[in-house]
Amino acid sequence: MTSDLLNVSDLRVSFATDTGIARVLDKVNFSIQRGEIVGLVGESGCGKTTLARAILGILPVNSARIDGGRIQFQSENLLEMPSERLSKEVRGRTITFIPQDPFSSFNPVFTIGSQITDLMRWKSPLRNTHSLTQGSPWWSLRRYEKQRFKADRARVLELLRAVQLPEPEAILRKYPHEISGGQRQRLMIAQALLPEPQLIIADEPTTALDVTIQAQILKLLRQLAHDRDIAVLFTTHDLGTTYEICDRITVMYAGQEMESATTSDFFNRPSHPYTQKLLESLPRDKERLQGIPGDIPTLISPPTGCRFHPRCDRADKTCADTRPAAKSIWTNHTVRCHHPNTHQELNRKLIN
Ligand SMILES: Nc1ncnc2c1ncn2[C@@H]1O[C@H](COP(=O)(O)OP(=O)(O)OP(=O)(O)O)[C@@H](O)[C@H]1O
Ligand SMILES: [Mg+2]
Repeated sequence: MTSDLLNVSDLRVSFATDTGIARVLDKVNFSIQRGEIVGLVGESGCGKTTLARAILGILPVNSARIDGGRIQFQSENLLEMPSERLSKEVRGRTITFIPQDPFSSFNPVFTIGSQITDLMRWKSPLRNTHSLTQGSPWWSLRRYEKQRFKADRARVLELLRAVQLPEPEAILRKYPHEISGGQRQRLMIAQALLPEPQLIIADEPTTALDVTIQAQILKLLRQLAHDRDIAVLFTTHDLGTTYEICDRITVMYAGQEMESATTSDFFNRPSHPYTQKLLESLPRDKERLQGIPGDIPTLISPPTGCRFHPRCDRADKTCADTRPAAKSIWTNHTVRCHHPNTHQELNRKLIN
Protein backbone atom coordinates (compact mmCIF):
# COMPACT_ATOMS: atom_id res chain seq x y z
CA MET A 1 0.00 0.00 0.00
CA THR A 2 1.18 3.48 -0.78
CA SER A 3 0.41 6.84 0.85
CA ASP A 4 0.58 8.68 -2.49
CA LEU A 5 -2.48 10.63 -3.55
CA LEU A 6 -2.01 9.25 -7.06
CA ASN A 7 0.13 6.28 -7.96
CA VAL A 8 0.36 5.08 -11.54
CA SER A 9 2.18 1.79 -11.89
CA ASP A 10 3.27 -0.14 -14.97
CA LEU A 11 0.67 1.65 -17.11
CA ARG A 12 0.62 0.52 -20.73
CA VAL A 13 -1.49 2.28 -23.35
CA SER A 14 -1.57 1.67 -27.11
CA PHE A 15 -3.35 3.30 -30.03
CA ALA A 16 -4.61 1.57 -33.14
CA THR A 17 -3.42 3.62 -36.12
CA ASP A 18 -3.59 3.12 -39.91
CA THR A 19 0.02 1.97 -39.93
CA GLY A 20 -0.12 -0.37 -36.92
CA ILE A 21 -0.38 -0.45 -33.12
CA ALA A 22 1.48 2.44 -31.47
CA ARG A 23 2.79 1.33 -28.06
CA VAL A 24 2.54 4.77 -26.54
CA LEU A 25 2.92 4.27 -22.77
CA ASP A 26 5.32 1.50 -21.82
CA LYS A 27 4.99 0.49 -18.16
CA VAL A 28 4.94 4.05 -16.88
CA ASN A 29 5.34 4.68 -13.15
CA PHE A 30 4.37 8.03 -11.77
CA SER A 31 3.17 9.42 -8.45
CA ILE A 32 1.92 12.56 -6.75
CA GLN A 33 1.72 13.25 -3.04
CA ARG A 34 -1.10 15.23 -1.46
CA GLY A 35 -0.67 18.96 -2.18
CA GLU A 36 2.37 18.43 -4.41
CA ILE A 37 2.89 20.20 -7.75
CA VAL A 38 4.51 17.78 -10.18
CA GLY A 39 5.68 18.70 -13.67
CA LEU A 40 5.53 16.04 -16.36
CA VAL A 41 7.98 17.05 -19.06
CA GLY A 42 9.25 15.59 -22.30
CA GLU A 43 9.41 16.24 -26.01
CA SER A 44 6.28 16.46 -28.12
CA GLY A 45 4.73 13.02 -28.63
CA CYS A 46 6.34 11.39 -25.55
CA GLY A 47 2.93 10.61 -24.04
CA LYS A 48 2.18 13.39 -21.53
CA THR A 49 -1.39 14.00 -22.69
CA THR A 50 -2.01 10.26 -23.03
CA LEU A 51 -1.01 9.77 -19.38
CA ALA A 52 -3.16 12.72 -18.25
CA ARG A 53 -6.16 11.43 -20.21
CA ALA A 54 -5.69 7.87 -18.96
CA ILE A 55 -5.88 9.14 -15.37
CA LEU A 56 -9.08 11.04 -16.15
CA GLY A 57 -10.51 8.07 -18.06
CA ILE A 58 -11.00 10.12 -21.23
CA LEU A 59 -8.83 8.33 -23.80
CA PRO A 60 -10.48 8.07 -27.23
CA VAL A 61 -12.72 5.00 -27.07
CA ASN A 62 -12.26 3.96 -30.69
CA SER A 63 -8.49 3.93 -30.90
CA ALA A 64 -6.96 3.74 -27.41
CA ARG A 65 -6.50 0.61 -25.32
CA ILE A 66 -5.20 0.20 -21.79
CA ASP A 67 -3.01 -2.88 -21.95
CA GLY A 68 -2.11 -3.10 -18.28
CA GLY A 69 -1.14 -1.38 -15.06
CA ARG A 70 -2.89 0.45 -12.23
CA ILE A 71 -3.98 4.01 -11.58
CA GLN A 72 -4.40 4.16 -7.83
CA PHE A 73 -6.13 7.35 -6.66
CA GLN A 74 -6.54 7.59 -2.90
CA SER A 75 -7.44 3.98 -2.14
CA GLU A 76 -8.96 2.87 -5.44
CA ASN A 77 -7.75 1.64 -8.80
CA LEU A 78 -9.45 4.00 -11.25
CA LEU A 79 -9.06 1.44 -14.03
CA GLU A 80 -11.43 -0.88 -12.18
CA MET A 81 -13.95 1.76 -11.11
CA PRO A 82 -17.33 1.55 -12.90
CA SER A 83 -17.56 4.40 -15.42
CA GLU A 84 -20.67 5.86 -13.78
CA ARG A 85 -18.86 6.23 -10.43
CA LEU A 86 -15.79 7.60 -12.19
CA SER A 87 -17.79 10.39 -13.77
CA LYS A 88 -19.94 11.10 -10.69
CA GLU A 89 -17.34 10.93 -7.96
CA VAL A 90 -13.92 11.46 -9.51
CA ARG A 91 -13.82 13.22 -12.86
CA GLY A 92 -14.69 16.88 -12.38
CA ARG A 93 -15.02 16.35 -8.62
CA THR A 94 -11.95 15.03 -6.83
CA ILE A 95 -9.85 15.31 -10.00
CA THR A 96 -10.43 18.34 -12.22
CA PHE A 97 -8.87 19.38 -15.50
CA ILE A 98 -7.48 22.56 -17.03
CA PRO A 99 -7.20 22.10 -20.80
CA GLN A 100 -4.64 23.61 -23.10
CA ASP A 101 -6.97 25.80 -25.11
CA PRO A 102 -9.12 28.30 -23.22
CA PHE A 103 -10.64 29.47 -26.53
CA SER A 104 -12.54 26.30 -27.35
CA SER A 105 -13.32 25.37 -23.76
CA PHE A 106 -16.47 27.47 -23.44
CA ASN A 107 -19.62 27.24 -25.50
CA PRO A 108 -19.73 30.53 -27.44
CA VAL A 109 -23.53 30.87 -27.43
CA PHE A 110 -24.11 30.79 -23.65
CA THR A 111 -23.03 33.35 -21.05
CA ILE A 112 -20.18 32.43 -18.75
CA GLY A 113 -22.57 32.65 -15.79
CA SER A 114 -24.95 30.07 -17.24
CA GLN A 115 -22.09 27.66 -17.98
CA ILE A 116 -20.70 28.00 -14.47
CA THR A 117 -24.19 27.58 -12.97
CA ASP A 118 -24.45 24.26 -14.76
CA LEU A 119 -21.12 23.18 -13.34
CA MET A 120 -22.21 24.26 -9.85
CA ARG A 121 -25.37 22.22 -10.10
CA TRP A 122 -23.55 18.97 -10.83
CA LYS A 123 -20.11 19.35 -9.33
CA SER A 124 -20.51 21.60 -6.30
CA PRO A 125 -18.90 20.27 -3.11
CA LEU A 126 -22.12 21.36 -1.36
CA ARG A 127 -24.11 18.92 -3.45
CA ASN A 128 -23.86 16.10 -0.97
CA THR A 129 -23.60 18.05 2.26
CA HIS A 130 -27.29 18.72 2.98
CA SER A 131 -29.39 15.86 1.81
CA LEU A 132 -33.14 15.74 1.82
CA THR A 133 -34.93 12.69 3.03
CA GLN A 134 -36.79 10.65 0.49
CA GLY A 135 -40.30 11.88 -0.11
CA SER A 136 -39.55 15.49 0.99
CA PRO A 137 -42.30 17.80 -0.29
CA TRP A 138 -41.63 19.83 -3.42
CA TRP A 139 -41.44 23.17 -1.55
CA SER A 140 -38.63 21.97 0.74
CA LEU A 141 -36.78 20.68 -2.33
CA ARG A 142 -37.15 24.10 -3.95
CA ARG A 143 -36.03 25.93 -0.81
CA TYR A 144 -33.04 23.62 -0.57
CA GLU A 145 -32.11 24.20 -4.25
CA LYS A 146 -32.41 27.96 -3.76
CA GLN A 147 -30.24 27.95 -0.64
CA ARG A 148 -27.63 25.80 -2.31
CA PHE A 149 -27.63 27.97 -5.41
CA LYS A 150 -27.03 31.09 -3.27
CA ALA A 151 -24.15 29.46 -1.40
CA ASP A 152 -22.64 28.12 -4.64
CA ARG A 153 -22.91 31.49 -6.36
CA ALA A 154 -21.14 33.15 -3.43
CA ARG A 155 -18.36 30.57 -3.80
CA VAL A 156 -18.08 31.22 -7.53
CA LEU A 157 -17.73 34.97 -6.97
CA GLU A 158 -15.14 34.36 -4.26
CA LEU A 159 -13.17 32.12 -6.66
CA LEU A 160 -13.36 34.64 -9.50
CA ARG A 161 -11.86 37.19 -7.10
CA ALA A 162 -9.21 34.64 -6.07
CA VAL A 163 -8.13 34.19 -9.71
CA GLN A 164 -7.92 38.00 -9.89
CA LEU A 165 -10.71 38.60 -12.38
CA PRO A 166 -11.96 42.17 -12.14
CA GLU A 167 -15.73 42.76 -11.65
CA PRO A 168 -16.73 39.09 -11.27
CA GLU A 169 -20.49 39.81 -11.40
CA ALA A 170 -20.09 41.52 -14.78
CA ILE A 171 -17.92 38.64 -16.10
CA LEU A 172 -20.73 36.17 -15.35
CA ARG A 173 -23.05 38.15 -17.64
CA LYS A 174 -20.60 38.10 -20.56
CA TYR A 175 -20.17 35.69 -23.47
CA PRO A 176 -16.81 33.92 -23.93
CA HIS A 177 -15.85 36.11 -26.93
CA GLU A 178 -16.21 39.24 -24.80
CA ILE A 179 -13.25 38.42 -22.54
CA SER A 180 -9.54 37.94 -23.25
CA GLY A 181 -7.68 34.61 -23.53
CA GLY A 182 -5.90 35.24 -20.21
CA GLN A 183 -9.25 35.93 -18.50
CA ARG A 184 -10.71 32.75 -20.01
CA GLN A 185 -7.81 30.73 -18.65
CA ARG A 186 -8.29 32.33 -15.20
CA LEU A 187 -11.92 31.19 -15.44
CA MET A 188 -10.75 27.67 -16.28
CA ILE A 189 -8.63 27.72 -13.11
CA ALA A 190 -11.61 28.94 -11.07
CA GLN A 191 -13.74 26.14 -12.54
CA ALA A 192 -11.07 23.58 -11.72
CA LEU A 193 -11.00 24.81 -8.10
CA LEU A 194 -14.78 24.99 -7.70
CA PRO A 195 -15.44 21.35 -6.70
CA GLU A 196 -12.60 21.55 -4.09
CA PRO A 197 -10.65 18.75 -5.79
CA GLN A 198 -7.72 16.77 -4.44
CA LEU A 199 -5.90 16.91 -7.77
CA ILE A 200 -5.91 19.27 -10.75
CA ILE A 201 -4.53 18.01 -14.05
CA ALA A 202 -3.32 20.96 -16.10
CA ASP A 203 -2.31 19.86 -19.61
CA GLU A 204 -0.11 22.62 -21.04
CA PRO A 205 -2.55 25.14 -19.56
CA THR A 206 -0.94 28.29 -20.90
CA THR A 207 0.65 27.46 -24.26
CA ALA A 208 -2.16 29.28 -26.11
CA LEU A 209 -1.37 32.52 -24.24
CA ASP A 210 1.40 35.06 -24.66
CA VAL A 211 4.53 34.63 -22.57
CA THR A 212 4.03 37.41 -19.99
CA ILE A 213 0.48 36.23 -19.21
CA GLN A 214 1.67 32.59 -19.04
CA ALA A 215 4.01 33.37 -16.15
CA GLN A 216 1.37 35.31 -14.18
CA ILE A 217 -1.23 32.59 -14.58
CA LEU A 218 1.10 29.74 -13.66
CA LYS A 219 2.26 31.53 -10.51
CA LEU A 220 -1.37 32.15 -9.60
CA LEU A 221 -2.21 28.46 -10.12
CA ARG A 222 0.72 27.47 -7.92
CA GLN A 223 -0.31 29.87 -5.16
CA LEU A 224 -3.98 28.87 -5.17
CA ALA A 225 -3.18 25.15 -5.22
CA HIS A 226 -0.66 25.43 -2.38
CA ASP A 227 -3.03 27.56 -0.26
CA ARG A 228 -5.76 24.94 -0.64
CA ASP A 229 -3.48 21.88 -0.35
CA ILE A 230 -4.47 20.70 -3.85
CA ALA A 231 -2.02 18.59 -5.86
CA VAL A 232 -1.34 19.59 -9.47
CA LEU A 233 -0.12 17.46 -12.35
CA PHE A 234 1.23 19.96 -14.82
CA THR A 235 2.32 18.80 -18.27
CA THR A 236 4.59 20.89 -20.44
CA HIS A 237 7.55 20.70 -22.80
CA ASP A 238 8.86 23.97 -21.41
CA LEU A 239 11.42 23.24 -18.71
CA GLY A 240 11.57 26.92 -17.70
CA THR A 241 8.01 26.91 -16.40
CA THR A 242 8.53 23.71 -14.41
CA TYR A 243 11.45 25.43 -12.67
CA GLU A 244 9.13 28.29 -11.69
CA ILE A 245 6.17 26.34 -10.36
CA CYS A 246 6.87 22.65 -9.67
CA ASP A 247 7.95 20.93 -6.46
CA ARG A 248 9.05 17.84 -8.36
CA ILE A 249 9.60 16.93 -12.01
CA THR A 250 9.21 13.66 -13.91
CA VAL A 251 10.71 13.41 -17.37
CA MET A 252 9.40 11.07 -20.07
CA TYR A 253 10.95 9.92 -23.31
CA ALA A 254 9.02 8.03 -26.01
CA GLY A 255 6.42 6.73 -23.58
CA GLN A 256 8.76 5.69 -20.75
CA GLU A 257 9.47 7.70 -17.62
CA MET A 258 13.22 8.22 -17.25
CA GLU A 259 13.82 10.22 -14.08
CA SER A 260 11.92 11.87 -11.28
CA ALA A 261 13.46 14.35 -8.84
CA THR A 262 12.76 17.44 -6.77
CA THR A 263 13.00 20.56 -8.93
CA SER A 264 16.33 21.48 -7.37
CA ASP A 265 17.87 18.01 -7.96
CA PHE A 266 16.38 17.81 -11.44
CA PHE A 267 18.18 20.96 -12.55
CA ASN A 268 21.33 20.65 -10.42
CA ARG A 269 21.89 16.89 -10.24
CA PRO A 270 20.32 15.28 -13.33
CA SER A 271 21.34 11.64 -13.26
CA HIS A 272 19.82 10.12 -16.42
CA PRO A 273 21.75 10.74 -19.67
CA TYR A 274 18.50 11.88 -21.33
CA THR A 275 17.79 14.48 -18.63
CA GLN A 276 21.39 15.69 -18.85
CA LYS A 277 21.13 16.06 -22.63
CA LEU A 278 17.77 17.78 -22.35
CA LEU A 279 19.18 20.35 -19.91
CA GLU A 280 22.30 20.84 -22.06
CA SER A 281 20.04 21.64 -24.99
CA LEU A 282 18.45 24.61 -23.15
CA PRO A 283 19.47 27.92 -24.73
CA ARG A 284 22.20 29.75 -22.79
CA ASP A 285 23.84 33.14 -23.35
CA LYS A 286 26.38 33.20 -26.18
CA GLU A 287 26.53 29.39 -26.46
CA ARG A 288 25.49 27.53 -29.57
CA LEU A 289 22.32 25.48 -29.19
CA GLN A 290 23.08 21.78 -28.72
CA GLY A 291 20.46 19.31 -29.89
CA ILE A 292 20.31 15.63 -28.91
CA PRO A 293 21.83 13.57 -31.74
CA GLY A 294 19.46 11.08 -33.42
CA ASP A 295 15.71 11.08 -33.87
CA ILE A 296 12.69 10.40 -31.67
CA PRO A 297 11.67 6.78 -32.44
CA THR A 298 8.39 5.68 -33.95
CA LEU A 299 6.13 4.18 -31.30
CA ILE A 300 4.86 1.53 -33.74
CA SER A 301 8.22 -0.25 -33.60
CA PRO A 302 9.96 1.39 -30.64
CA PRO A 303 13.50 0.42 -29.57
CA THR A 304 13.67 -2.52 -27.16
CA GLY A 305 14.85 -2.10 -23.56
CA CYS A 306 15.41 1.55 -22.70
CA ARG A 307 13.82 3.47 -25.56
CA PHE A 308 16.53 6.14 -25.30
CA HIS A 309 19.40 3.66 -25.88
CA PRO A 310 19.92 4.31 -29.64
CA ARG A 311 20.68 7.98 -28.83
CA CYS A 312 22.58 7.43 -25.59
CA ASP A 313 26.39 7.55 -25.41
CA ARG A 314 26.43 5.35 -22.28
CA ALA A 315 24.28 2.58 -23.80
CA ASP A 316 25.47 -1.03 -24.00
CA LYS A 317 23.85 -4.37 -24.78
CA THR A 318 21.99 -4.50 -21.44
CA CYS A 319 20.26 -1.21 -22.28
CA ALA A 320 19.05 -2.64 -25.60
CA ASP A 321 17.92 -5.91 -23.98
CA THR A 322 16.21 -4.85 -20.75
CA ARG A 323 14.24 -1.87 -19.56
CA PRO A 324 16.01 -0.69 -16.39
CA ALA A 325 14.07 -0.88 -13.13
CA ALA A 326 13.53 2.35 -11.17
CA LYS A 327 16.48 3.00 -8.82
CA SER A 328 16.15 5.34 -5.89
CA ILE A 329 19.42 7.32 -5.77
CA TRP A 330 18.39 9.93 -3.19
CA THR A 331 15.31 11.11 -1.30
CA ASN A 332 12.59 11.71 -3.87
CA HIS A 333 15.04 11.01 -6.69
CA THR A 334 14.53 7.92 -8.85
CA VAL A 335 16.08 7.08 -12.18
CA ARG A 336 15.47 4.32 -14.73
CA CYS A 337 18.90 3.79 -16.22
CA HIS A 338 21.46 0.96 -16.15
CA HIS A 339 24.29 3.52 -15.90
CA PRO A 340 23.00 6.51 -13.93
CA ASN A 341 25.20 9.05 -12.20
CA THR A 342 25.11 8.70 -8.42
CA HIS A 343 24.44 11.67 -6.14
CA GLN A 344 28.07 11.56 -4.95
CA GLU A 345 29.31 11.91 -8.56
CA LEU A 346 26.80 14.65 -9.24
CA ASN A 347 27.77 16.55 -6.08
CA ARG A 348 31.46 16.31 -7.09
CA LYS A 349 30.59 17.69 -10.53
CA LEU A 350 28.66 20.56 -8.91
CA ILE A 351 31.65 21.51 -6.72
CA ASN A 352 34.19 21.42 -9.59
N1 LIG B 1 -5.98 9.36 -30.87
C1 LIG B 1 -4.77 8.93 -31.22
N2 LIG B 1 -4.61 8.01 -32.19
C2 LIG B 1 -3.39 7.55 -32.53
N3 LIG B 1 -2.24 7.95 -31.94
C3 LIG B 1 -2.32 8.87 -30.98
C4 LIG B 1 -3.58 9.42 -30.55
N4 LIG B 1 -3.36 10.32 -29.57
C5 LIG B 1 -2.01 10.33 -29.39
N5 LIG B 1 -1.40 9.46 -30.22
C6 LIG B 1 0.03 9.21 -30.31
O1 LIG B 1 0.51 8.98 -29.00
C7 LIG B 1 1.80 9.57 -28.83
C8 LIG B 1 1.77 10.45 -27.60
O2 LIG B 1 0.90 11.53 -27.84
P1 LIG B 1 0.59 12.60 -26.70
O3 LIG B 1 -0.42 13.53 -27.24
O4 LIG B 1 0.29 11.88 -25.44
O5 LIG B 1 2.02 13.33 -26.59
P2 LIG B 1 2.42 14.64 -25.76
O6 LIG B 1 3.63 14.28 -24.96
O7 LIG B 1 1.24 15.14 -25.01
O8 LIG B 1 2.84 15.65 -26.93
P3 LIG B 1 2.68 17.24 -27.00
O9 LIG B 1 3.83 17.83 -26.20
O10 LIG B 1 2.83 17.54 -28.45
O11 LIG B 1 1.33 17.62 -26.46
C9 LIG B 1 2.10 10.31 -30.12
O12 LIG B 1 2.97 9.50 -30.87
C10 LIG B 1 0.77 10.45 -30.78
O13 LIG B 1 0.92 10.43 -32.19
MG1 LIG C 1 0.13 16.93 -25.07
